[in-house]
Amino acid sequence: MIIKSRFIDTPTPQNMRDFEGYLIVEDGKIKKFTLDKPEGKVVDFSDYIIMPGFVDTHTHLTQVELMGKWHTDLFDWLEKYVFPEEMRFLDRGYAIRESEKFFNLLAQSGTTTAVVYGPSRMESVDAAFQIARKVGLRTIMGQTLMNENVPEELRISMEKAKKDIIALWNKWNNDFSRYALTLRFALSCTPKFMKELSQIARKRNMIIQTHISEQEREVEEVRRRYGRNYAQVYDEAGMLYEKTILAHGVHLKDEEMNLISKRGAKIAHCPSANFFLHSGVMNIKKILAHGIEVSVGTDIAAGQFTSILPVLRDAYYANPIHPVRAFYMATMGGAKVVSMDDKIGSFELGKYADFVVIDLKNLANIDDFPLEILSQLMFRGDDRNIKATFVAGKKIFERD
Ligand code: GUN
Ligand code: ZN
Repeated sequence: MIIKSRFIDTPTPQNMRDFEGYLIVEDGKIKKFTLDKPEGKVVDFSDYIIMPGFVDTHTHLTQVELMGKWHTDLFDWLEKYVFPEEMRFLDRGYAIRESEKFFNLLAQSGTTTAVVYGPSRMESVDAAFQIARKVGLRTIMGQTLMNENVPEELRISMEKAKKDIIALWNKWNNDFSRYALTLRFALSCTPKFMKELSQIARKRNMIIQTHISEQEREVEEVRRRYGRNYAQVYDEAGMLYEKTILAHGVHLKDEEMNLISKRGAKIAHCPSANFFLHSGVMNIKKILAHGIEVSVGTDIAAGQFTSILPVLRDAYYANPIHPVRAFYMATMGGAKVVSMDDKIGSFELGKYADFVVIDLKNLANIDDFPLEILSQLMFRGDDRNIKATFVAGKKIFERD
């Protein structure tokens, strides 16, 4: 496939690249960029810009129906809306219908890779992986594991969890579909549960994901229950390593940032969700100063948008970050967080051709400076600006 367009990427938090010409894709990978028109049929996207596909490093498949449903704080919202909705996913038919909706929404939003909290039942996660493959998204996902403080129907025993993890990992363990150990958070998992499951995950180099330090009340409850800070609780359970993705991190203390940094764990910044639940503002400057890699997450349904673009805008309102940093977090930074920086995230030769075709419409002129384009997209863009989405050179969505 040959594509003509203007290609912009952000391979580092400080650099962007801008190239107008032809991209040659072969076997789903980026083969070459060239100024000269190559032989063969050209797909003409010269009225658009093309960027690397967005990497959403924190979201919940089970919460699509909850977007925009107001409630007060995290605990009450979980009880009132989230747990009852997640119980509906015990029905495989419902899980299939919602998975189709969810992955199509992500494709329409320009997301090419998503890190997902799936339903609690393994059969539903297995079905969701199949649907993600059918839609074409790159998915890192696990069943949302809980063994205490949640309705009985959502709990899983240690033995069953161990079996499920190994079975799902053995089946879904490639560049397109990858099982991740998904422990909801320290208040719905016992220490023994977190510890033993993490051992299984780390033996296999699995991604481990969980929530950390989102709301003050939650942090206090963790302190009350464990007598330790949040990061220590996870560290003592052996959960923190290079493949760990911690969502939120709004109220982390310096000593926790030091520990997270020492272990090489990453943070998924979810500013839209933090605004919705009034969780507070994550201090990105401090977290970055500790040398921690930060990506972004839509966090549906505490976040109200499936598109990464409004999340970048909210990230700016939370902390003034440069637009290049914002797009880096949404692409190459996300790739690093999921340990796929040699495969996705920028327009390096040999990487997968995961990209998003962006219609600037009335936002910007196609020949504006690249920084102006990124800035206008960040502050004014959303899913309506997504003309098409490609994963490994395959079109998974195109707007008419
Ligand atoms: N903490 C534990 N579970 C959740 C969840 O589903 N959403 C959010 N925003 N925070 C959580
Ligand atoms: Zn979440």
